[in-house]
Amino acid sequence: MGHHTFDIDRADSLEDDSRYAYLSVDELLGLFDFEATDCVADLGSGTGFYTRSVATHVDSVLAIDIQPAMHAVFEEFGRPANVHRLTASVDRLPVGTDALPAAYSTMTYHEFVSDRALAELARVIEPGGRVAVADWSAEGVGERGPPLAERYDAATVAEHLAEHGFAIDRTRERRETLVVSARYEPSSA
Ligand SMILES: C[S@@+](CC[C@H](N)C(=O)[O-])C[C@H]1O[C@@H](n2cnc3c(N)ncnc32)[C@H](O)[C@@H]1O
Repeated sequence: MGHHTFDIDRADSLEDDSRYAYLSVDELLGLFDFEATDCVADLGSGTGFYTRSVATHVDSVLAIDIQPAMHAVFEEFGRPANVHRLTASVDRLPVGTDALPAAYSTMTYHEFVSDRALAELARVIEPGGRVAVADWSAEGVGERGPPLAERYDAATVAEHLAEHGFAIDRTRERRETLVVSARYEPSSA
């Protein structure tokens, strides 16, 4: 279900303030209803473009990325002390069951999604915990981001999450991107 992994040779292009036109930090924080005491996971953290901002509002961030080289670029751009790197795939997380109160992902869902990844997410998020996904949408205009054929639309992302025990709070299509937020409620599966 997931598509190609972001090319490490283009890592620097992620550090581009024009990306805020598609998702601002304020929007992202509003999506996962963070608490200052949370340890939050960033699924596919890349160079840390959004991670660094989120880290100033929560206790700590677990920056999860499948590519060690991406973590190295994150280090070069500056990693806050409360951001902890984890090299792993979302479909196999070396994280305890119910260990996390919240997780978010920016522009990466289309790369990591699979039944196994969603099952892992459901395993590591505590009951009542929050998840937020922002990504390029299949309903978008295609002026930026991956090809439309490699994307999902908001309704499909919500359906995937609901199938794995998440109760959907918000499902929005925008012009180019989607946002979906949910709470883990195992009894709702
Ligand atoms: C398009 S980049 C976005 C990075 C960051 N979220 C941002 O918005 O700047 C996608 C990142 O997800 C990582 N990634 C892709 N598939 C993954 C997987 N299965 N598990 C963990 N990370 C993954 C890639 O290595 C890459 O760093």
